[in-house]
Amino acid sequence: MNRLSGKSALITGAARGIGKAFAKAYVAEGARVAIADISLAAAEAAAAEIGGRASAVHMDVSKQASIDQAVRAVAEQNGGIDILVNNAALFDLAPIVDITRESFERLVAVNVAGTLFTLQAVARSMIARGKGGKIINMASQAGRRGEALVVVYCATKAAVISLTQSAGLNLIAHGINVNAIAPGVVDGEHWDGVDALFAKYENRPLGEKRRLVSEAVPYGRMGIADDLTGTAIFLASSESDYIVAQTINVDGGNWMS
Ligand SMILES: NC(=O)c1ccc[n+]([C@@H]2O[C@H](COP(=O)([O-])OP(=O)(O)OC[C@H]3O[C@@H](n4cnc5c(N)ncnc54)[C@H](O)[C@@H]3O)[C@@H](O)[C@H]2O)c1
Repeated sequence: MNRLSGKSALITGAARGIGKAFAKAYVAEGARVAIADISLAAAEAAAAEIGGRASAVHMDVSKQASIDQAVRAVAEQNGGIDILVNNAALFDLAPIVDITRESFERLVAVNVAGTLFTLQAVARSMIARGKGGKIINMASQAGRRGEALVVVYCATKAAVISLTQSAGLNLIAHGINVNAIAPGVVDGEHWDGVDALFAKYENRPLGEKRRLVSEAVPYGRMGIADDLTGTAIFLASSESDYIVAQTINVDGGNWMS
């Protein structure tokens, strides 16, 4: 299908996992997609694998100069930006008594400041161009409710939900829809790290947490990145024009709101 025909998309953290699946799906829908990642080599490999209208760009969302440079380069190369997916994020967990200021600052810099200032840079470019746009932030079920060990990550994803609401209300006046997707548990390399951290702090064998969260999903299994692509295409397309400042759960039934 060609629901995104002629559109230019920028997806952060798209060298692997959910962002890479979105890049592939957007290209299949006719978009030009800039795969932005802190690892340029991984972004280039993903772009080569997807082929066609995918390209790679280096971007560290925790650095303002890198955001500005990448947004400018993609806008110049692809004739503007119609769609931004704020997908790059870091995960960590620890009991309250073990949280370090370094871990807190790293997660806030990428998940919160990275989301806000990438959104700001792209919104400025969209407003100057005068054609509106679509901005999709990746939240999480972790932003809906705190978890005993996942203190900082949960707080950053709650902040993403809140930023989506405020930015959505602010930017719709410019024809820019800001919405978010809240996935539940999505299998992939990200979960290798999550599982290892739970194994450490909950004293479990490797793989057990993955099995338990998988069994707890009402749908009957963990998500995969492709479970999210339909919503990501919908929120990037004109079919979602009247949806403003929402966070949509795509989690197999884990959370209701
Ligand atoms: N996988 C899950 O279970 C799950 C659940 C809920 C929400 N999410 C959210 O979905 C999004 C994607 O998750 P994923 O599982 O694909 O993650 P992932 O860890 O597999 O991929 C994250 C990507 O972001 C890149 N990245 C890290 N720091 C960066 C930076 N400073 N600048 C630019 N890129 C950077 C990494 O190189 C990597 O390619 C994230 O926002 C995550 O919080 C994931």
